[in-house]
Amino acid sequence: MPIPDRTDHPELRNLAETLARGAGTLTVRLRAGDADLGVGAKSTPTDVVTEVDRAAERWLADELARLRPADAVLGEEGAERAGGSGVRWVLDPIDGTVNFLYGLRPYAVSVAAERDGRVVAGCVHDPTSGETFSAALGAGALLDGRPLGGSWLARTLDTAVVGTGFGYDAGLRAAQGQVLAAVLPRVGNVRRLGSAALDLCYVAAGRLDGYFEFGLKHWDSAAGLLVATEAGAVVGGLRGRPPGPLTVAASPAVAADLVRLLEELGADEL
Ligand code: IPD
Repeated sequence: MPIPDRTDHPELRNLAETLARGAGTLTVRLRAGDADLGVGAKSTPTDVVTEVDRAAERWLADELARLRPADAVLGEEGAERAGGSGVRWVLDPIDGTVNFLYGLRPYAVSVAAERDGRVVAGCVHDPTSGETFSAALGAGALLDGRPLGGSWLARTLDTAVVGTGFGYDAGLRAAQGQVLAAVLPRVGNVRRLGSAALDLCYVAAGRLDGYFEFGLKHWDSAAGLLVATEAGAVVGGLRGRPPGPLTVAASPAVAADLVRLLEELGADEL
């Protein structure tokens, strides 16, 4: 698809960075306070949400209403606003809520900007490390302002370190476990970080050679997929499809073999 003839992608990326860092600071402040985290459940008892997720999303939506009132907004925790500008912001205030709740690292704030339905800018900020991954369509990927990409270690799938994640439904996790059991002996090793947005950015940074997960939501992956793509990773689904229901991102050296293996296993048919 040709890149639209617009030049505001870096400007949208810069705003995504400011917003993600601001929301990240808020999550750290609220986590450090004595306040009850106000834990609730969503799709299943293990699909948790905290008052901090909600407060961070409210802050993001309020900032966008102030700074870009004509833009639309879609957020994981229910923020939704229509707009007439052609730009929509896709927000995940805390990607990795289980990590956040348990005091584990990492977790991330993910902010993406779409123009006419296509993600053109995004930022994934990890408040636990202070790292900020970002990208603008056609302008490359950045880690803390420095260009990112091309630094993968593995040359073959059997030495590749591959990330993955699991859903919140026990039946889905059982099926994901079967796929994983078959993948494990075919790759170098496997990691489960707990934040899909950061898994994708870690592929961009060469910290993972590949990543796959079934059933991601748009807000989990919108910014991270752009970061991975702009860093030169191969991104997609199985059988020539775009990402979903299985999302795969991998280095050019291992992507084709990882995709073939996941196709053989029917990893998109869980
Ligand atoms: C989750 C995380 C996790 C992934 C799950 C996602 P959330 O997002 O990204 O790593 O395995 O599929 O739902 O619920 O923490 O925003």
